[in-house]
Amino acid sequence: MRGLFVTGTGTAVGKSVVAAAICAALAARGERVAAFKPAVTGLDEPAGEWPPDHELLAHVASAGQAPAGVAPYRFRPPVSPHFASELRGETIEPMRLVATARAAGAGADVLVCEGVGGLLVPLTAGYLVRDLAVDLGLPLVVAAHTGLGTINHTLLTVEAARAAGLRVAGVVMTPWPKRPAPIEASNRATVERLAAVPVSGLPQTDPRSLAAAGEALPLDRWLSPQKALGQRARGAH
Ligand SMILES: Nc1ncnc2c1ncn2[C@@H]1O[C@H](COP(=O)(O)OP(=O)(O)O)[C@@H](O)[C@H]1O
Ligand SMILES: [Mg+2]
Repeated sequence: MRGLFVTGTGTAVGKSVVAAAICAALAARGERVAAFKPAVTGLDEPAGEWPPDHELLAHVASAGQAPAGVAPYRFRPPVSPHFASELRGETIEPMRLVATARAAGAGADVLVCEGVGGLLVPLTAGYLVRDLAVDLGLPLVVAAHTGLGTINHTLLTVEAARAAGLRVAGVVMTPWPKRPAPIEASNRATVERLAAVPVSGLPQTDPRSLAAAGEALPLDRWLSPQKALGQRARGAH
């Protein structure tokens, strides 16, 4: 399956903005893009500039999915999906997640998945977001903050990914400022060097300018298996 799995160093780090920019840029090139999000939580939260993840992704993807088709499980409380489902007395079915994602991908040229929180967030008591990324076999894109704390969070995420055999195609620091502060420029170079992974910056964007923002991301390099920087990184260790 051709596609990308967008994870992040945590919650509210820009996964949805990055995933939506990727979808919009690929769709603008004429690709049939399907989106997938295993579970949306926090639908109780007040609406902001950005719509809920499954609505945003359905809007920018181009495979004609309804929001409910992007995210099979949707919960109101802003808690981990495994707990949100427990509160409702149901269990998230990993097989259903994998089948839904594969079906979405089968009807498209490319599948863009967004995780939930960070890589080690439980979808069920024993099935983590990382397990889903492994089951789908997609390379990772890691959304990360630009400032203080991001080196540690990003390197931990890359290590956790590689420990499970996942390929990290790239890191995206977001929003990337027009004039980065010295710490931001240093963080970007430091993560690139220590993780041996290409780090991109996604500029400040809004729901209407996603395609233009996503155009500047190295989409072809991420999607091309033979140019996998993760493999180079593994060889370098
Ligand atoms: N490139 C960007 N342009 C504009 N806003 C951004 C950008 N990156 C992150 N943000 C801000 O960060 C917030 C959290 O991003 P979001 O994609 O919802 O995070 P996550 O999906 O990881 O929870 C957004 O609501 C937005 O305000
Ligand atoms: Mg999100």
